[in-house]
Order: sequence, then C-alpha cells, then structure tokens
Amino acid sequence: MTQKKLTAGWTFTGKHGEFQLANPDRSSYLYFPLVNEAGMMSSITPTWHGDSKADQNSFLLAPVSAEDLHNSRAGRNFWVYIEGKGAWSAAGNSASQITSRIGNMDEADEVHLEAGLLWHRVTRQNKKFGIRAEATSFVPMTDDKVELMQVKITNISDKDIGVTPTAAIPFYARSADDIRDHRHVTSLLHRTYTMKHGVEVQPTLSFDERGHRVNETAYSVLGSEADGTAPVGYFPIGEEFIGEGGSYDWPEAIVTNAAAHETSGAEIDGYESVGALRFKDRILAPGESLSYVIAMAITNGRVNEEQYEKDYLSAARFDALLEDNKQFWQAKVGTVEFYSGDSNHDEWMKWVTLQPVLRRLFGCSFLPHHDYGRGGRGWRDLWQDCLALLIMEPQDVRNLLWNNYAGVRMDGSNATIIGSKPGDFRADRNNIPRVWMDHGAWPFLTTKLYLDQSGDTEFLFEPQTYFKDSFVKRAKARDDRWAPEAGQQLKTADGAVYTGTILEHILIQNVIPFYHVGAHNNILLEGADWNDGLDMATKLGESVTFTAFYAGNLKDLSDMLLQVKQMTGVSHVEINEEMLDLLDTLTAEKVDYASIADKRERLERYYNTVLTTVSGVKVSVDIEQLAADLMKKADWMISHLRQNEWIQNSEGYSWFNGYYNNDGERVEGDTPGGVRMTLTGQVFPIMSGVATEEQIRETVQSVDQFLKDDKIGYRLNSRFGGIQQNLGRAFGFAFGHKENGAMFSHMTVMYANALYKRGFVREGRTVLESVYELSSDFERSRIYPGIPEYINAKGRGMYHFLTGSASWLLLTELTEVFGVKGKLGKLLLEPKLVEQQFDMNGEASVETLFADKKLRIIYRNASKLDYGQYRVQEVKLNGEIISYAAAGHGCLLDRQLLSALADDQLHTIEVTLFAK
Ligand code: G1P
Repeated sequence: MTQKKLTAGWTFTGKHGEFQLANPDRSSYLYFPLVNEAGMMSSITPTWHGDSKADQNSFLLAPVSAEDLHNSRAGRNFWVYIEGKGAWSAAGNSASQITSRIGNMDEADEVHLEAGLLWHRVTRQNKKFGIRAEATSFVPMTDDKVELMQVKITNISDKDIGVTPTAAIPFYARSADDIRDHRHVTSLLHRTYTMKHGVEVQPTLSFDERGHRVNETAYSVLGSEADGTAPVGYFPIGEEFIGEGGSYDWPEAIVTNAAAHETSGAEIDGYESVGALRFKDRILAPGESLSYVIAMAITNGRVNEEQYEKDYLSAARFDALLEDNKQFWQAKVGTVEFYSGDSNHDEWMKWVTLQPVLRRLFGCSFLPHHDYGRGGRGWRDLWQDCLALLIMEPQDVRNLLWNNYAGVRMDGSNATIIGSKPGDFRADRNNIPRVWMDHGAWPFLTTKLYLDQSGDTEFLFEPQTYFKDSFVKRAKARDDRWAPEAGQQLKTADGAVYTGTILEHILIQNVIPFYHVGAHNNILLEGADWNDGLDMATKLGESVTFTAFYAGNLKDLSDMLLQVKQMTGVSHVEINEEMLDLLDTLTAEKVDYASIADKRERLERYYNTVLTTVSGVKVSVDIEQLAADLMKKADWMISHLRQNEWIQNSEGYSWFNGYYNNDGERVEGDTPGGVRMTLTGQVFPIMSGVATEEQIRETVQSVDQFLKDDKIGYRLNSRFGGIQQNLGRAFGFAFGHKENGAMFSHMTVMYANALYKRGFVREGRTVLESVYELSSDFERSRIYPGIPEYINAKGRGMYHFLTGSASWLLLTELTEVFGVKGKLGKLLLEPKLVEQQFDMNGEASVETLFADKKLRIIYRNASKLDYGQYRVQEVKLNGEIISYAAAGHGCLLDRQLLSALADDQLHTIEVTLFAK
C-alpha cells in the first residue's frame, strides 16, 4: 500500500479567493456551497455529493446531513463506460473507486480540486482507465433555480478509446419531511417524464407540514453535448437503472453497458426516479476531449425545455454564465477588501466576507452540518448578520432593520422565527413559549452601527408596529382575550393598530430587562442567552454577562440621545404613556434599584397595563432627562457588576462570573471538580465597558490560564464535568465540542473585538491570529477557506460557512483592526494595526463603502512603527491634502467631504502615520 502525504492544505492561486487542493476526496465532510439570489441552494463535495433544493419542501437531490456524505450513494454522478475496461465514474463514485481510496491507493484516481467565488472544479484521472474528467459546477446568477455542471472527459492514454457516457442524478423531488415520513408513499406521487434533453419529475401532490396539496413544483435533469446535441436515451426509473441487487455506485445499466430503456416522450408513474441521461457512444483519440453540460432545475410548473435548452445547454452558454457568475461574486466580495502584509490572510478574508451573504441566502438550515430548522433565521442571527450586510449591502439594510423591529412585543420579548419575507414573523414553531434573554440586546447594537455608518438619526423616529400574540409577560402568561383573528399587530383599546418609534422599541427592549432580575439582581437567564445550550436554568438562572451587555446598551443609548440632540436640536421624544412607569426617575415614584422586589413589582405593574392592548396615548419626554434616566440605570448596573460579580479563585486569578444556575448558585470559580470559567462571561463586561482596564488585564491572564488550549485555541468554557442539569443541555455534549468547551468562533471573535475596542490590541490580535491559524490549518481543520462555527476537540472545523462569527470577524477587521468606522455619519480612521500588518513598503490598505462611495483607505507607515507609537499626521483625499479633526490617534472626516465625491468610482484616502 502506498503511503502518500494526502492532507497538505489548500493554497491560494489567484486574486479572487481561488484555491487548489490535492486529494480533496481524502478528507471527509468537505463541502462547498453553490447558490443564487433566485433561491437555488446546493452543496457539493469533492465526489459531487451534497444536495440541492429551493426550500424545505422542494429538494431536487435528497437532503443530506454530514454523515450522509459518505453513507449515501445517491450523489450526482457521470459514468463513462470504456470499451474493454468497464465502468468508471467521473465523480469517483463507483464501488471500485471508493474501495481504492482506502487501502488500494495504487489503483486510485488522482484527484485535484480548484474552486473560487462561487464555482467548484474537480479533476480526476486514472491512468489504468486512460481517462481524465474535469467537472465544473456552479449555480448561475439568473432568475432560475438551476445548478449547472460541465463534465469534460479526455483520453489520456496513447490509444483510441470507445466511451459510453451517462449522467446519473438520482431525483428526490419532494419535501425534506418525507425522508422518514412516507418516503415510499410519496414516490407513488411521482410522475416522471422523458423529454428531448432529459428527465423531469412532477409529483401530483405534496405531503408535508402544510398538509396534502396539489403540487406544482417540478424537478428536471437536462443535458447536452458541448454543441447542444441531446442525449440518445434515458433510464428514468431508479430500480431499473441500478438493477435487482445493484446500487447507485454499481448500477446494472452502466456496468453491463445496457441500451437506454426510454427515448423522449415517455411518462412513467409512481417510482423513485433518476435523471440518467445516456449520451451517444464516441471514440476518443489520444488527447481528445468531449464535454457535456448538465442542468438540474427546480421550476414552478413543468420546465420550459426550449427556454432552458437555449439558456443553459451548450458549452458556450456554460462558459458565459460561469464568467458572469465569477464577476458577480467578485464584485460582491470586492465591497470590502483588505491589503495587509499577509496576502494569504487577505485572500482568506474574502471567504469570510462571503459568509454573511451565504447565511442570508441559505439561512441556518441548508448545508450538510446545518441539518436542522426549516430555513429562515432566528432573531439573534438575523440582527447579527445585518452587521456585515450593513457594510456589504448597505442600500438594503435600512428597510430590513425597520421591518425587523415589527417583531418586538410590548414586554420586550420578540417573535423568534423570521420567515423569508421581511416582516414575516412567527411566534415560535411548536408554540413553545421560550424567551432568549439576549434577544433584546442585539437590535440596538446593530442599529447603532447603522446610525454611525449612515448618520441617519431620523431612523430612530420612524414609526413601527409591535408584534402581538397570546404570549405576555415574556411568555410567562397567556393573554386569553387575544385571538389569532385579531392579527399579529398590537392594537390600541379602540382597535387601531398601534405604532411607536424605533427609539421606543429600543427602549422597551433594553429597559424591561433592567427590571427583570433574579435573586442576585442580575437579569434572568430565561430560556437561554447567546448560548442556546444554557437552557435548563429557566427559573433561577441569571446571565451576568448579558446584564453587562444591557448595561452597555443603556449607557450607549444615553450618550447617543445627547448627541442626537446636539446634532439635530430635537429636545423631546414621544413614548407610550405606559412606558413612563419604567423610566422611574422621570416620575414621582422612584425605584430602589438595589431592591429586587421593587424592580419586579414595577415591571409587573407595567406588564398589566399592556396585556391585550395599549392606550395609544403618547407622552413627550425631555431627551436629556431620558438620557439621564438611562445613565443612572447603567451606572447602577456597572457598579453592581464590578462589586459583586468580579471573582477571585484560590490561586489568585480573577475574572467575571458569567452565570447563576437554576439552584441560584454562582457558576464560575473554584469547584471540587476544577475551575469553572466561561469565555462568554468575560466578553460582554469587556465589550460594554463594565470591566475596568485593570480588570481586563487580569481577565486576559485568567482566560489564558483556564481557557486557552494550544491545540484548539480559546475554549468557550473550561471542563465543568457532569451534565449540569441545573444549567443546560450544552453540558451533555462531550467536552471540547460545540457549546461545551469547543473553540466557538463567534464568542472568540467577539472576545477579540472587545479587546480591540478597549485598546488591548496585541491581546486582540493574538486571539484573531489563533482563529485564523486554526481555521486555515487544513491538516487539522479539514475545511475550505473561511471561518467555521467551531473547532472541535480534534481540531476539525465544524458547521462551515453559515456562522455569525463571519459577520463579527469582518466587522472587527474593518472597524477595529483597520479602524474604519462611522461616528453618527462622520468617518473615523483610527487604525489598530501592528507593525507586521504593514507590507514591505510600510503600507496597509482597505477598500470599503462609506457614504455610498467606494473608498480605498491607505495607511502609510514608512518607519514601520508599531501600534501605540504612531498617530495620524496627514490625510489626502484623491491626492489633495484635506483638513480633519483629530480623534484619539486617528482622524475624523466630515461626511459632506465624502458625499460630494463622484459615484461609481474608487476614491483614495491616504493617511500618513507618524511617531507620536
Ligand atoms: C450558533 C447560532 C447562534 C448562537 C450560537 C451559540 O452560532 O447561530 O444564534 O448564539 O450558535 O449557541 P453561529 O452558528 O452563528 O456561529
């Protein structure tokens, strides 16, 4: 058996994220996303496995979880029967090729992968068979839900070879629900048609959660030779294609080189079907190639074959669409581009930049590791993905944010499931009244970024409705007077739909938690916080760390209101009269913040005034008094946290306790089983300004001591031991996996962000470097470029592509590391780059959108000064020196300066850095 080094990693080959990887088929669980705006969502592996679908109820290929990638044989395939030699799969999916991958490497194909934004090419060749196949896949940026594949076969032997090519794409053609719910019965619904160019399945009915309905959706596999020549016949029925006792990796029709069963015009009812397209027999001279184009389509109604033939079925159309596709994705990712001293890192960042767009398109459900949910995104992810979209697709975001606020309830909770259309909310599937206590905190963070980037303070005063269903008092009670017929918008007592400003929504989301405290005067954990796995402390659990987050929000909101007054002259704001009770310092009845009972009582009083309807009466509040009220609350929380939740263990290490469990016990610190510490517990006190500088210094040491692991980086928590039934299901996971002690990228990147934000630049950079190194160390992580949701106990990257950490990483690199960020519409340039991040000429630059203009910001640091040694000295806009206001070690530029620039053109801002 030959021993080869098989897992040397991918290398970048171009300037648009292109990379190559040898032996990609020797890494399990690798998958690559292919997607378009029309809603085609595919995943493909080096052996062309994966699936393609339009939504939960419309899967062309059978839905796959990560394990199915090697368990199932029903992947895309393209067979070449070679006269005198037998069947060979261009996908590597024949029983004999699979066997030779492990154990018989001398017989194995040589396989090579190249990929870019967003295309995928696998080349495989086998000297014994004398053949090479190069298969390129992508989903074109058209209005159709279609995936394209071109297979080019070449004779690499020195003799003529006779080939019989057959594409074989097993149809699933129904709802994912049917995989274990009437898989057989739903095949009886299939109506399978053979056409001029391929096979189509249109089930008569669909059986899924929506009930039994007449089905319109059709699924087709169409194909042609390079010049458009149609296939010569078909094997449309799965069981006939594979033969009795056969399988998709050793199908009788192929292995015996049988003649096609059908030509065009047949209809077969009631079987599992396969898009098996037989092409004409050909003789290939040495070095000669042939190519075939395969289109896999999901259409509403039977496919318009003529149209698809014209649009997709030729090598010329394939090449043109592939080029368009590359241009589209390059432009999308080109919205933000980094140029540092490390070009590999810059290329890697392109994949990270793409990831938030992928999550917008795939939701959290439709890649092999993401085998849960039914599409769409939850509340938290929706808001955090907006962070990156604000930078990449800013034109669409105002409306998106505004729509999202319609999901807020009057008790500060919110509808959790968001459908595909803006403003399409559902309370929760299964009607589980679960409230995640962190949900109220994210919208302000995102809105603040929007206001800073845009200066659009008017947004705060836009009216928006509220969500209403039967859940009240943060899902602790039901409102029996509400009926679904009343609709999902909150009404006033006289039946009118109630609206309040966006500011009012933000106040409700952030002030209510201030009162919603547990026995230690921290905010109750409820159904969980950011960590979905902390879901078993619903009665007495408290999230100290999100108490810090809310404290930071109240403080930032207070500051922002004062700035808005200064900028716009707005002196009063209107809020619903019921809310005034919670802004206690504005009333005669003050609340004793130290008294848990007082807080709860005040909240209960408020809840009872907004149960079924609201009065609709607004009161006008002085903006300064409102700001002062919020600041008073923030100050109280900050000093409470600093005094009561800063802990020290027996070895003298200090950090913030992050939680109380369902027995009301403090979670972190020394225990007989070892030290318990969470990274989440540290991140938000640092990010929100609760932690003092000294506390940050000590926290960093404690994190390094208890959470940093040489092999898997910064763990989400230390080993707690035991399943923690008083805290959450996360601790049922094996230690080192997912929400129990893995390197969970989202929290690690937020840790870095928090450190940068507070000026701990070297510490933050160490964290970001570790995430990059772990993700890009292919031998261990076995993922394509980009950031995975987490790194598991073995160092493998998991749940690649669809993760909120990508948004945060992009944001951190741009706004903290490169220091390019808005300040209520002005542009602040305050780099936090260290010496190594400048190139040989002492330059580092970034391209980004700001004020609707494409800017290239170049930092010049000729003396290669390190962070802390430099400050901005001179700024040039398109070559002309401009004046600026100094801000920290950076500079603040007026928006007008930028708005006046021409559109559709790249403008250069050169910033010279000099010694302080
Ligand atoms: C995922 C979820 C996110 C949740 C986190 C921790 O993170 O999408 O909402 O907060 O797990 O439970 P992500 O995949 O976005 O990195």
